[in-house]
Amino acid sequence: MDKIQKLIEEHVGYLIVFTLLVVSVAGLVEILPLAFQKSTTQPVAGVKPYTAVQLAGRDIYIREGCHTCHTQMIRPFRAETERYGHYSVAGESVYDHPFLWGSKRTGPDLARVGARYSDEWHRVHLINPRDVVPESNMPAFPWLAKNLADADIVPTKMKALRLVGVPYTDKDIAEAKAQVEGKSEMDVLVAYLQGLGLALKNVR
Ligand code: HEC
Repeated sequence: MDKIQKLIEEHVGYLIVFTLLVVSVAGLVEILPLAFQKSTTQPVAGVKPYTAVQLAGRDIYIREGCHTCHTQMIRPFRAETERYGHYSVAGESVYDHPFLWGSKRTGPDLARVGARYSDEWHRVHLINPRDVVPESNMPAFPWLAKNLADADIVPTKMKALRLVGVPYTDKDIAEAKAQVEGKSEMDVLVAYLQGLGLALKNVR
């Protein structure tokens, strides 16, 4: 044993190799079970795949970088659950590819913002946040109301998501384009926001 220790401590190459070995084994032991645990791979009751319209809205959310200021991850602490509602659980994001938990909160957490405000509130807020929250320093996104959402690409996205396990049917995909067509980027983004976190909304 002493010999091995001496060898490792005196040769930095061995030290690096053995350190990496220990870290990767320990990492695998922690990470691998999560991939097979039901609570992380099964949707919570009431969680459904995003509709075509919500999916288009989610991509606007990503494009505009909303996730750089807003988390979607309510932590299991009293101060959080009193303010936002039930803490976030893994089974709520099984259809999120990629998930948008985030870590930076310049604005409030949005994991359960669905149904908290009216659609009209969101529209006004996104066009100019100061109109409804005078002290807000959130940027304005007025172009969302003017641009049409890209409907052509939605079926392709749904097919890609199906490959990674989101249970879209052929019918869902066939109807997707018509559902998004003619809607503004604002319409689809608001639909996405209004669907966030509803499954555990009333659970305390
Ligand atoms: C630079 C940081 C920043 C970015 C980027 C940002 N926000 Fe905000 N957001 C805030 C802040 C700060 C508040 C709190 C003040 C307010 O309500 O306007 C807020 C509030 C909100 C609220 C109200 C939440 C509540 O519970 O009251 C919603 C909804 C929201 N933002 C959505 C969005 C969306 C959608 C986007 C992307 C289009 C976005 N935000 C981008 C900073 C940001």
